[in-house]
Amino acid sequence: MSTHASLQHQVTELQHQVEVLTEQLMQSEKLASIGQLAAGVAHEINNPVGYIASNMTVLAEYSDSLIRLVRILSQRLNNDEAQSLLQQFDFAYLCDDLPKLVKESEEGLQRVIGIIRDLKDFSHLEDAEFVLTDLHLGIQSTLNIVANELKYKAEVVCQFSQLPPVYCIPSQLNQVLLNLLVNAAQAIAQQGTITISTGFDAQWVWFSVADTGSGIAADKLEQIFQPFYTTKPKGQGTGLGLALSRSIIERHKGILDVVSEVGKGSCFTVKLPRIAKSPEPD
Ligand SMILES: Nc1ncnc2c1ncn2[C@@H]1O[C@H](COP(=O)(O)OP(=O)(O)OP(=O)(O)O)[C@@H](O)[C@H]1O
Ligand SMILES: [Mg+2]
Repeated sequence: MSTHASLQHQVTELQHQVEVLTEQLMQSEKLASIGQLAAGVAHEINNPVGYIASNMTVLAEYSDSLIRLVRILSQRLNNDEAQSLLQQFDFAYLCDDLPKLVKESEEGLQRVIGIIRDLKDFSHLEDAEFVLTDLHLGIQSTLNIVANELKYKAEVVCQFSQLPPVYCIPSQLNQVLLNLLVNAAQAIAQQGTITISTGFDAQWVWFSVADTGSGIAADKLEQIFQPFYTTKPKGQGTGLGLALSRSIIERHKGILDVVSEVGKGSCFTVKLPRIAKSPEPD
């Protein structure tokens, strides 16, 4: 190759790398802004939900008192008049239904409060720093976020062991787990199982996401980690999920690996170093 041709080749190569990195950056910025939006919404909703929850408790007490008061008052009226009034207002039904409504609303509120807590955990942007944490907390809050989406495709089974804490950026690991879970669900055509396992040995603390989906051909097992490699229809996948996940795990000095069998399913494993202190910055 002439010097000119070789330079030309290098320039094209570099241009391609710039494009790939720009796209990666856009994708991570997109994720960061989704996180920011989620945290903002959670924060805004938190306040009104707080006072609705405390009002509900008082409302339950007040409605109980009112029912008792009406009962006492109606006993003081002559029987016909009392019966006619109680019927007119459907009092028996009201007494039966009101506590149920209050209880249902309280349960609904508890769910909303749980979702807000998970959204806040999930999108903790301020902790874009390495912290010592229990992986299970992040796994659980990510699962709470996507459980509803997954349930149409798969039963999610958790096989958790006791884990030593690891140094990590929790919001980024949540993103990795989210990518793996979405991929697992997308690989399942109708109904299957997604198993999340955790464990550790002398060197690593790990979690894995196994699915009973389509599996991946052996000659594609490395390609799937390349940016823009996707087998999904246009508009559904950008092919960045695994590339981004691998770069996050590399930042953690860890390993993201896969074993797979076509027709049986795939298992992605994230290994993080079991170390006593935060890794040195790059
Ligand atoms: N659990 C899995 N089972 C089977 N194939 C998978 C699995 N996970 C990933 N793949 C394959 O790897 C490809 C790349 O995955 P990746 O997550 O990087 O991108 P994507 O899912 O196609 O798009 P994006 O994640 O950007 O929406 C997928 O298109 C799919 O072919
Ligand atoms: Mg994906």
